[in-house]
Amino acid sequence: MTPREQARQILKDNCHGTYTIPAKDLYPFQWNWDSCFCALGWGTFDEVRAWQEFDTLFSGQWKNGMLPHIIFHKESETYFPNADIWNSQTNPPTSGISQPPVASTLVKFLYERCKDKSEAKKRLHTLLPKLFLYHSWYHTHRCENGLITTYHPWETGRDNSAEWDEALFRVPLKLKGGFERRDTALIEETERPTGKEYDHYVALLQILKSHDYDGQTLHNTIPFKIADIGINSILLRADKDLLWLYQQTGDTKYSDQIKNRISSLENAFDLLWSSECENYGSYDLRTNTIIPVETAASFLPFYAGAVSDDKAEKMLKKLHSWEKQVKFMLPSLDPFHHKFEPKRYWKGPIWPIINFLVATGLKEHGYTDHANRIQEDTRKLIEQEGFREYFNPLNGLGLGGSNFSWAAATYLFWL
Ligand code: GLC
Repeated sequence: MTPREQARQILKDNCHGTYTIPAKDLYPFQWNWDSCFCALGWGTFDEVRAWQEFDTLFSGQWKNGMLPHIIFHKESETYFPNADIWNSQTNPPTSGISQPPVASTLVKFLYERCKDKSEAKKRLHTLLPKLFLYHSWYHTHRCENGLITTYHPWETGRDNSAEWDEALFRVPLKLKGGFERRDTALIEETERPTGKEYDHYVALLQILKSHDYDGQTLHNTIPFKIADIGINSILLRADKDLLWLYQQTGDTKYSDQIKNRISSLENAFDLLWSSECENYGSYDLRTNTIIPVETAASFLPFYAGAVSDDKAEKMLKKLHSWEKQVKFMLPSLDPFHHKFEPKRYWKGPIWPIINFLVATGLKEHGYTDHANRIQEDTRKLIEQEGFREYFNPLNGLGLGGSNFSWAAATYLFWL
């Protein structure tokens, strides 16, 4: 089988009717941003199935607009924390937090590629109000100092990124009851978050649950309150693409509102610049300080279209030094950082979907050499090692889960 055929097969094997699970056993439900990437993969050979992926994802949307990070369409014993732990009291059951809002942008990419434009237009009509509501939730329930906030590392999609360590370990460990992780029964411990990190993740989940996951009341009390450079860049880009999508249908009723949201987020972006690092980073809204840790997400402002020329110059210098330090791009953590661990999840390994987002932004800014290096490295890694969850940037070895849906999808639509 060619890699392309294998990739299609992986999507089919991980397909549960109208949604795709990220990987068998390790992630047996529908995940928010994984699903959006999967939809693009499906779109390369089955457009109807691609639109279904989004429809099924939005079947889990909450009344307040929040699009949960996990939708538990079925039960499974291989994952912790499951639907009972989250206890969302929704139908279908879901988690109580969201994930990076790539949806509008990936709907746009799918729409542009679709051959059947009349079907695509129909689908767009159904999806647009839901996308608008999702963005509204971020801009109202999760907005502070003009920036978008997050209340849990899982919401950033970069679970154990070194950026979160300080804020995460401030979360008091008043755990109600014990718990048993399932991930380390499936994947080597050295490739996963630590036990200490998990204790704090669960403690934070329990705080969120005790407030019914409601943004308004959590605002003052939640110990972990961060403006993630990833979410902020991804939403800024998504706002612009949502505006574009509305324009395709000729519907202008929200244009001004969306434009206002875009400029207010753009105006706040300077808070995310670290002059110490000479790069973008995440901002701790509890201590009102920028977190001086550079990660792959520090380069997402290119994707947001939010980088001025003088900042771009500094960021490219950084990228260049990283390129010399690792064999494959783009490591998830600054390879010069003392916490860099090439095998441990988001503390060093390469993630194909982040590579796609960053390279897309670099290419759009005309930095094609850097973009091509990232793209070609991603292709080499997948072709050599298979459709793995993440990869070691120093030796290229595949890590984490295998037959991973978004790696397969990324290969299909990008590589
Ligand atoms: C991990 C990743 C997250 C992803 C999920 C399912 O939790 O950190 O980004 O969505 O796995 O693949």
